[in-house]
Amino acid sequence: MTENSETETKPNAGIQGGLSLDGSAENICAYYQQWAANYDSDVDDGGYVGAKITVDCFLQAWQHLAEIDKYAYQIHDVGCGTGLVGKFLSEQDFTYIHGSDLTPNMAVLAQQRGVYQQVVGGTDITQPICPEWVSAYDAVLSSGVFTSGHVPPETLLQLKIMVKIGGLIVISTREQYYKAMNYQQLHDKVINSGELTEVSTLKNAPYTNDSNAHYWVYQRVC
Ligand SMILES: C[S@@+](CC[C@H](N)C(=O)[O-])C[C@H]1O[C@@H](n2cnc3c(N)ncnc32)[C@H](O)[C@@H]1O
Repeated sequence: MTENSETETKPNAGIQGGLSLDGSAENICAYYQQWAANYDSDVDDGGYVGAKITVDCFLQAWQHLAEIDKYAYQIHDVGCGTGLVGKFLSEQDFTYIHGSDLTPNMAVLAQQRGVYQQVVGGTDITQPICPEWVSAYDAVLSSGVFTSGHVPPETLLQLKIMVKIGGLIVISTREQYYKAMNYQQLHDKVINSGELTEVSTLKNAPYTNDSNAHYWVYQRVC
């Protein structure tokens, strides 16, 4: 897949609708509420591998950096949707997995997978973080959320608040989002300020049939 591949394959109606959102939490929630039941089959049909690659990038970093046993390692999946990240983490024997999502119907499906210890629906990650989640996690993962019409790049700082010092943050940024939202500027700012270090970045990797994404792994410094 090339940088210009977005024009080569059209996403299906479910994915296309998600990409046409306007960043309003109310509209995002309304869209995913009605899409939830068909989400898994639609993203599978659209070749979505974002959740799998996000977990793969996390695993690589965890193998190099983490000193904590898999079973005790505390992970939060932000914008967990129907729980694809949790599924892949569980297959790797991680058990302490929390999830949260803006959309209640998505969160219910994630909970039903039986791989999350806790899933909280109705949680907007762009709003002040629940006190119990501040500096609470060894890693925060978020796949498919830094994408067109969803959350602004500054949401990365919200994820930073949730991890402990030394904790990992792993996100995907869809190709078009990265360009249109100037994600690189926010990335440079947090690296230059010393708040986060860049552990690894996988650029222009597969995401959906119609788009690539970048996958970013950060470590919280302060
Ligand atoms: C494309 S889905 C990705 C779901 C899942 N992470 C995956 O990889 O399949 C985007 C998810 O982000 C959630 N979302 C969008 N904006 C959000 C916000 N401000 N706070 C929390 N969740 C949000 C949506 O409800 C939806 O479930």
